[in-house]
Amino acid sequence: MLKRPKISVIGAGFVGSTCAHWAAAKELGDVVLIDINEGAAKGRSLDLFEASPVEGFDSRIQGGSDYALTKDSDVVIITAGLPRKPGMSRDDLLATNAKIVKECTQNVVKYSPDSTLIIVSNPLDAMCHVAYEVSGFPRERVLGMAGVLDGARFRSFIAEALDVSVEDVQAFVYGGHGDTMVPMPRYVTVGGVPLLQLLSKDKIDAIVQRTRQGGAEIVNLLKTGSAYYAPSASAVQMAEAIVRDKKRVLPCAVLLQGEYGQNGLFCGVLAKLGAKGLEQVMKLEMNPEEMAMFEKSAAAVKELVEAMKKIQY
Ligand code: LAC
Repeated sequence: MLKRPKISVIGAGFVGSTCAHWAAAKELGDVVLIDINEGAAKGRSLDLFEASPVEGFDSRIQGGSDYALTKDSDVVIITAGLPRKPGMSRDDLLATNAKIVKECTQNVVKYSPDSTLIIVSNPLDAMCHVAYEVSGFPRERVLGMAGVLDGARFRSFIAEALDVSVEDVQAFVYGGHGDTMVPMPRYVTVGGVPLLQLLSKDKIDAIVQRTRQGGAEIVNLLKTGSAYYAPSASAVQMAEAIVRDKKRVLPCAVLLQGEYGQNGLFCGVLAKLGAKGLEQVMKLEMNPEEMAMFEKSAAAVKELVEAMKKIQY
């Protein structure tokens, strides 16, 4: 008999609970929500389950603080960690979140040794290293969510500027999930037409800059947390690609092993995601300017990872 996929979400804060929402609403499978705050995890999952008759989705949703609930998950989305406050960079969260992600990963691995991990906690690329090292999983099953989110921001702003459907805007972002990320305007198409033919250089530059600052823009507006609708939708799109074996080509953080001249570093690139997790690192030709930006971004990630290795977490 065919078994429903199981998706566990670690952290029942805004990002985690919204991940559960999108995953259940898309009927990706059964959903488990875990948090150290047991009441929050139980309450939000029960609330979401009670929405299912209205919205018409069949998904068993459970919550709690006991990782035994996550047993035999196919995909685990790790969102636990502190969010940014105004004025903080994602990197300021390094020590605290490394400890949290380490503990969550250890618990997840105990119950779901065959799962694929999608890391969302910040600073994203560094947290992928923590999860990769602690889990002992192959690189195929440790992925970071950032490129889909940064690409979605890029696509939103382009669609708005041209007053076209967001669905017709294809765009992606390379590099780390930080201020040095590399949106790739040369590869953006709108209904198949290159963006460079549709928008002036000044306007494109402004959109690129806004994309780079996309997370901070929301943090500054919210004042008490960071973005969650778009981050959670992005993580769930990756989960969907895996549980439905869609073989989507999505930008995400993967452990590079020689690709793009990087070795042993998590960095955002285009990847094919399917039932096996990472199924292929896509090739992309970068011109010297794009390559220089990518290398600068990779160097920023490397610096952060080196700093993290010096911390006891
Ligand atoms: C952002 C945070 C989640 O980009 O990194 O909004």
